[in-house]
Amino acid sequence: MTKALKGVRILDFTHVQSGPTCTQLLAWFGADVIKVERPGVGDITRGQLQDKPNVDSLYFTMLNHNKRSITLDTKNPKGKEVLTALMKTCDVLVENFGPGVLDRMGFPWEKIQSINPKMIVASIKGFGPGPYEDCKVYENVAQCTGGAASTTGFHDGLPLVTGAQIGDSGTGLHLALGIVAALYQRTATGRGQRVTAAMQDGVLNLARVKLRDQQRLAHGPLTEYSQFGEGIPFGDAVPRAGNDSGGGQPGRILKCKGWESDPNAYIYFITQAPVWEKICDVIGEPGWKTHPDYAKPPARLKRLNEIFGRIEQWTMTKNKFEAMDILNKDDIPCGPILSMKELAEDQSLRATGTVVEVDHPTRGKYLSVGNPIKMSDSPTEVLRSPLLGEHTDEVLRQVLGFTDHQVAEIHDSGALDPPRKVAAE
Ligand code: COA
Repeated sequence: MTKALKGVRILDFTHVQSGPTCTQLLAWFGADVIKVERPGVGDITRGQLQDKPNVDSLYFTMLNHNKRSITLDTKNPKGKEVLTALMKTCDVLVENFGPGVLDRMGFPWEKIQSINPKMIVASIKGFGPGPYEDCKVYENVAQCTGGAASTTGFHDGLPLVTGAQIGDSGTGLHLALGIVAALYQRTATGRGQRVTAAMQDGVLNLARVKLRDQQRLAHGPLTEYSQFGEGIPFGDAVPRAGNDSGGGQPGRILKCKGWESDPNAYIYFITQAPVWEKICDVIGEPGWKTHPDYAKPPARLKRLNEIFGRIEQWTMTKNKFEAMDILNKDDIPCGPILSMKELAEDQSLRATGTVVEVDHPTRGKYLSVGNPIKMSDSPTEVLRSPLLGEHTDEVLRQVLGFTDHQVAEIHDSGALDPPRKVAAE
């Protein structure tokens, strides 16, 4: 079977998490992704948070599947020649260097365009043009500057960052979408273009409903936020809403059986208006169906603590999976809090390829998250990440058509290999 991006070649200048997420997706869609790494060092994550000595970390292996790796010193004159040759043959250059790095390397946009006018140059930066454009940015910086942290946590506590990597992986996803759109536009224009995604912008896009609430705040308190029912006044900015649901239907995380010892024995429970009567029956409060203090959503808003307290008395009598089964029979929206251990062991996620076991020559078998996007005509096969420089000679010969003599010459220039250590006399 063919792949959606078969024939597309990516010059992958990405590192750490945001850029690699993007190019990994493109590789899963069938693009030939050639990851360029610094000789002897490689992507810094190869050596970060290592669980086993001297093997590529899970950080690296889980973000760089299905790619080829070549080592190239792009500051070496011969290395620049190889890079230029690669630019001529690739469709897309993806990078998430710090601001200005590509220019300092000698490859500003105008130069790349003159080398290959069809080249799409896709970049992730922390911020778009503005006061912070020269700053380096990592995940939590993006979460804090993109509106996620100020709206996450409880209203009387610190701003919080989330475990989901919305700044890094989220922006990688945004960039991948921009790249495939640019590839599509190129089929009509024949031209490449610049595609940029700033991490602050990506996070704000994901926090869109909070900017919605910021504007609603000008017209009165946010009645679905718990603090409204608790009589706590609103300030001039959207507050942190704890575990309240982002839609108009009140929701909370409630204890289930075993919560005293299991940190994940909880369920998310939404008191959705259309199923209110069923909720009353399930929890044993049939009188609430008609009682004026509980029957209609506006009356309930001031009593959410009491109502969720009563629902929790019921959820505490069930484990989270039992509660899920019972509630779903009545279409009551809910979700057990699943631990990473439970997700890793989940057989249905294994069956769909969302959780995959991958074999690696130096680390052995490990679990990874496969492609979350399923395509009927472009199935994903998750292949292990490359070793550092594993495909250097292969790419020079097969992709660039260099002869053995030329390859040897490039090796001699020092552009492909770390400087040799000279033994002390
Ligand atoms: N050969 C030679 N030099 C290379 C090279 C190669 N193959 N690959 C990278 N380098 C050099 C660069 O030219 C640069 O040198 P310079 O500063 O002298 O111009 C140097 O490596 C450092 O690059 P930089 O990207 O700034 O790395 P960093 O470790 O200092 O910063 C980040 C890391 C992530 C903070 C930064 O890249 C960044 O802000 N990226 C954009 C936002 C982003 O993606 N952040 C999230 C990361 S998950």
